[in-house]
Amino acid sequence: MKIIAISGSLRQHSLNSKLLAEAVSMKPDDVTITAYEIQEIPLFNGDLEEDGDPEAVLSLKRALKESDGLLIVTPEYHESMPGVIKNVLDWVGSDANENVLRNLPVGVIGASPTRFGTAHAQKQVKQALIAAGSEVFQKPEVYVAKANEKFDDKGNLTDERTKKAVTRYLQSFSSWIGKKI
Ligand code: FNR
Repeated sequence: MKIIAISGSLRQHSLNSKLLAEAVSMKPDDVTITAYEIQEIPLFNGDLEEDGDPEAVLSLKRALKESDGLLIVTPEYHESMPGVIKNVLDWVGSDANENVLRNLPVGVIGASPTRFGTAHAQKQVKQALIAAGSEVFQKPEVYVAKANEKFDDKGNLTDERTKKAVTRYLQSFSSWIGKKI
């Protein structure tokens, strides 16, 4: 089973990119999780779709079509999802060319230094995915709160409860996808 994973943070020392990297190493044996970089995706502009999608968007769409599912690791800004995630969803979920989010199994997790751990952002991402026609994985949920205290200097997840929660999440998410393919 192949899963593409996207971090919604572009910064080098992102907590969410660290969480994604750890998820890659905690996945079940029969699952491949590949991190996909989204910094080349341009800002959404409906005019650009008229001549076909930009190459960076086409490339992500190809990767998603070749995958069995998508894992989104989202930060939270102002109690909402980050613009870079919304931008990606608008491109790949647009009906103008090909909406590759339709029927795609998608899971959402996230990390933040606050005690809510991206609860608001995750709800928003799920809402947008439902609008685009994705199959959204609901439970269990992973909200990595106080995430600034849960990684060591090398980016390893040090909190045992979080490790267990992420492992359990990936097992449930992949077995849920397995029932759909
Ligand atoms: C934040 N942050 C934040 N965190 C949160 O849990 N709820 C929030 O509403 C916000 N709001 C917010 C707004 C803006 C403009 C910034 C820059 C930050 C803090 C945020 O979770 C923190 O910076 C994370 O470290 C961002 O994720 P990455 O980049 O570490 O993955």
